[in-house]
Amino acid sequence: MADIDPAVRSVDPAFRADVLAGLAAPIPAIPARWFYDHRGSELFEEITRLPEYYPTRTETALLERYSGEIAAQVGSGEAVIEFGSGSSAKTPILLRAVQPAAYVPVDISGDFLRESAAGLQSAFPGLPILPVEADFTRTFELPGAVRDVAKLGFFPGSTIGNFVARSAVDLLRAMKETLGEGARLVIGMDRIKDVDILIRAYDDAAGVTAAFNLNLLHRINAELDGDIPVDAFRHKAIWNDALSRIEMHLEAVRDVAFPVSGRRFAFRQGETIHTENSHKYGHRDSRILLRAAGWGVVAEWTDEQQWFSILLAEAEPARFAP
Ligand code: AVJ
Repeated sequence: MADIDPAVRSVDPAFRADVLAGLAAPIPAIPARWFYDHRGSELFEEITRLPEYYPTRTETALLERYSGEIAAQVGSGEAVIEFGSGSSAKTPILLRAVQPAAYVPVDISGDFLRESAAGLQSAFPGLPILPVEADFTRTFELPGAVRDVAKLGFFPGSTIGNFVARSAVDLLRAMKETLGEGARLVIGMDRIKDVDILIRAYDDAAGVTAAFNLNLLHRINAELDGDIPVDAFRHKAIWNDALSRIEMHLEAVRDVAFPVSGRRFAFRQGETIHTENSHKYGHRDSRILLRAAGWGVVAEWTDEQQWFSILLAEAEPARFAP
């Protein structure tokens, strides 16, 4: 689908609100979801092919290897609901294995959603594909056609890593709500590993992740009438051990001041805008996170190096203590 002329594309008011509040905050930060304009989505696809970026490759290999086992656990004829489907690159592997009754990709980016739904439809001509343009961090309505079908949630890519524990639990709980009783969830989670490997995955030699991070400033300039000198910032990726996460920041390389939407902001050299968290989980961490949101882990598949895990969880019925 052709890209809409930026001059006529309406700006999401939530983007403006998040940027203006985020730049003015005592610890400046902008939510990672705003990376994904059209260019940002393209750059992310490029990241997934980088030699240093192990998550996509590792998770895809796990799905290829174990989709038969996943299907054996969940059976066929379910409705697969994918949260944040993006380009849906890993989806065909799961769909071929579980032979669902319907596929519901959910994404905030309508353009990407429709593009990839159309691509999938030609690979699965008989499958009802029912895209939903929605913010999956909130509860939303599923299409009526899947109301009485058992649901299998699919949340790959370690997207859950973008959320701090409290928000991750809120999100997993909202998914449980959306999917309903008896639902199951296939979720990909990135594991804690050697810090050098982690850092390289978020600060690659070709500079694609840097371009991805800096693209946020270009997006602000284009959509929010900003005049940020992008060369005044550099990409920075660090491991926060206390919080078990990679953090991405944009660091001012000199004192700089600029307007966005008619407001003025100033950064001193060395100050940063925090743009992303990517939490990593140990074996028990992933289980307690899911359990805190009402999901019980019934199976887990991991690679030889234990760099990445795919977990199958079941919505637990509400239960009285103890
Ligand atoms: C899409 C959130 C899973 O955290 O690894 C990749 C995004 N950011 N490189 C991740 C990302 C920088 C990615 N997730």
